[in-house]
Amino acid sequence: MTKQNKNIADSPILNVRNIKKYFPIKGGVFKRTIGHLKAVDDISLSINKGETLGIVGESGSGKSTLGRVILKLIDATEGSILYKDTNITSMKRNQFRPYRRNMQMVFQDPFGSLNSKMSVAELVEEPLLVQTSLSKKERQEKAIEFIEKVGLRAEDRLKYPHEFSGGQRQRISIARALITNPEFIVCDEPVSALDISIQAQVLNLMKDLQEELGLTYLFIAHDLSVVKHISDRVAVMYLGKIVEIAPTSTLFKEPAHPYTQALLASIPTLNKKKTDEPTVKLKGDIPSPANPPSGCAFRTRCPFAHERCEKETPVLATQGVQHEVACHLLDGQDDVPIATKSDPTLKKISKA
Ligand SMILES: Nc1ncnc2c1ncn2[C@@H]1O[C@H](COP(=O)(O)OP(=O)(O)O)[C@@H](O)[C@H]1O
Ligand code: SF4
Ligand SMILES: [Mg+2]
Repeated sequence: MTKQNKNIADSPILNVRNIKKYFPIKGGVFKRTIGHLKAVDDISLSINKGETLGIVGESGSGKSTLGRVILKLIDATEGSILYKDTNITSMKRNQFRPYRRNMQMVFQDPFGSLNSKMSVAELVEEPLLVQTSLSKKERQEKAIEFIEKVGLRAEDRLKYPHEFSGGQRQRISIARALITNPEFIVCDEPVSALDISIQAQVLNLMKDLQEELGLTYLFIAHDLSVVKHISDRVAVMYLGKIVEIAPTSTLFKEPAHPYTQALLASIPTLNKKKTDEPTVKLKGDIPSPANPPSGCAFRTRCPFAHERCEKETPVLATQGVQHEVACHLLDGQDDVPIATKSDPTLKKISKA
């Protein structure tokens, strides 16, 4: 199914407003709180029913924390999460139970998230035992239905996780996440641990299941090439903030933030056509979110950093249709050349 004919509703299923997640940093002999690690720092986004929003960024940028806060696996420090217009942010466990069925997660490491002592049937049935009042027979029938839906055989239900390949184990995790008929799934790097050839199979399965079951995905990956084929829109995260968000085709054709441009330049398959042209390269490692640079957090690695970037934190501003970017270069106030993919200035600067 192409993105153009995909059935995406106009109303948001999820609306996240100004979410922050700060982890306390303890120090000294009394283990007092001496600071905060800002894993997620003021993120707002919304996802429409049937849509896939990709979230990309290097390791440590706060992607998993954002996913866990949205699913209420950990509490937000500030901000609100609206699920179909209901504010679920401060709901207690009992109040949240009916929503839990609708909001599930697929993890990166299927081996770590699957209890090795449980058979496939037990693993896939378990969410029904915890979250529904179905009879044993009904649970068993539903488990077989979902084991087959994810491309495994009914007889595989008697086997244990170690008897499967990585891709098959991820299929078991997907069956577990889907068996309660959820509407919204956070997929946290679901194919990152798999071989490239297997990645495509699992991504295709997830796309097919999305179409069949009308699912909405928040799809997390550290690699833009993985989100490209499954996402309708992509948000790029850097040190706890979204620095650019756009429809997937816009982000790949007209990346506007220097960080997005550098991430794109690092994908070898996308650069095949370019011969010896220099591209934006990411220098050094991502700084610690416990001690982020002042102003624009990307300034220590940005070829365009100028005086204002040290003092002022850029905020997301509209750049085009559904396209928002947080960079001082783009508001026209600074006498610095605008960085666009087609602008050779970018290449000259990065070459210097
Ligand atoms: N429970 C926690 N306690 C303290 N720091 C944490 C915790 N979970 C994540 N972090 C920190 O938050 C930052 C973002 O982590 P994470 O959300 O896992 O990033 P990503 O998924 O993008 O790799 C990292 O610096 C990580 O060490
Ligand atoms: S605000 Fe400054 S440092 Fe940040 S991305 Fe833009 S030019 Fe680079
Ligand atoms: Mg992560």
